Amino acid sequence: MKPVKVGLLGLGTVGTGVVRIVEGHQEDLQGQVGSPIVIEKVLVHNKNKARSISIDSSKLTEDPWEIIHHPDIDVIVEVMGGIAHTKEYIMEALASGKHVVTANKDLMALHGKEILAKAHEHNCDVFYEASVAGGIPIIRTLIDGFSSDRITKIMGIVNGTTNYILTKMSQEGASYDDVLKEAQELGYAEADPTSDVEGLDAARKMTILSTLGFRANVDLNDVSVQGMSKVSKDDILYAKRLGYEVKLLGIAERQDDEFSISVQPTMVKKSHPIASVNGVYNAVYVYGEAVGETMFYGPGAGELPTATSIVADLVAVVKNLKLGVNGKQGVVAFKEKKLKSDEQ
Ligand code: NDP
Ligand code: HSE
Repeated sequence: MKPVKVGLLGLGTVGTGVVRIVEGHQEDLQGQVGSPIVIEKVLVHNKNKARSISIDSSKLTEDPWEIIHHPDIDVIVEVMGGIAHTKEYIMEALASGKHVVTANKDLMALHGKEILAKAHEHNCDVFYEASVAGGIPIIRTLIDGFSSDRITKIMGIVNGTTNYILTKMSQEGASYDDVLKEAQELGYAEADPTSDVEGLDAARKMTILSTLGFRANVDLNDVSVQGMSKVSKDDILYAKRLGYEVKLLGIAERQDDEFSISVQPTMVKKSHPIASVNGVYNAVYVYGEAVGETMFYGPGAGELPTATSIVADLVAVVKNLKLGVNGKQGVVAFKEKKLKSDEQ
């Protein structure tokens, strides 16, 4: 019953949710894995900042290496965001034999292959369920649930902030600037919300989904991206009059071994279920040759929904620890992709 010790990098929206769930569901978590899960140390920018949860101040540190090199910490949970620092910390943590759970789609879309290779080299787990569609377990579903099928299309709303904005503009006639501010206050938006509204966040998520769904080496540069910042209230109003809602859709399609992947504002017929996906909710359609059409729906951002995915990953790491099988995921032979645009 030795406790499993966690080093948490970040105590913002998602990190706070992780602490709440690990503490609030401790008995149930322990029942599943057979050991207490303890948050041993927490990295923050500023130890003196007011927090919405009470946390033992001796656990807080502003020094990442105190956590990365901590001899007793088994798992690093990275919820601080950014790319350069986080990559350095995660690579070093893996080299020290620590398992990693991250919500960082920016990092996984750009450097996922390298990080998974490092994890494999050191027999470590890297799980990143929270990086796409917050509380919807879509990554595990693509890897395990559809391992028997050949996925031909993945389509959906994968950014909560922009769906929140588009919904409020459509239903309440709210102004883009006001609703963006609201989404930031609710903790949905990225530190730099440009990546939400210009479609980059969705493009990073589509990169991850297509890599896993098509079992192919997809790059962020393969995704053609158009954001929603130029969609006006009038555009939304005219679309509604014609019987459509405007949604920022990610669409990844495969025909034989050719792929096309895009993110763009799209007019969706009101009769299509995706037109009724509102607020911070996300929906991902997965089409398989054998299964046909499936749809996954749930909150795409926010403190507790995102933290459920993180803590589920944490449970998976601890179960693997008990079985001695860490580092065995991610060993998928990804094929080189052929993009439709390559032929033009
Ligand atoms: P926040 O900005 O709310 O929190 C970031 C936290 O990390 C803060 O506690 C901050 O410290 C700390 N931090 C940031 N940079 C550093 C640094 N260089 N050194 C030390 N501490 C640092 O972010 P979120 O919780 O919203 O997001 C975290 C990650 O989760 C991001 O990768 C994001 O894309 C991803 N994500 C977010 C979702 C959401 O709904 N918000 C959903 C899914 C994924 P301090 O508190 O002192 O400022
Ligand atoms: N900013 C992201 C969103 C957070 O709004 O979807 C969840 O990944």
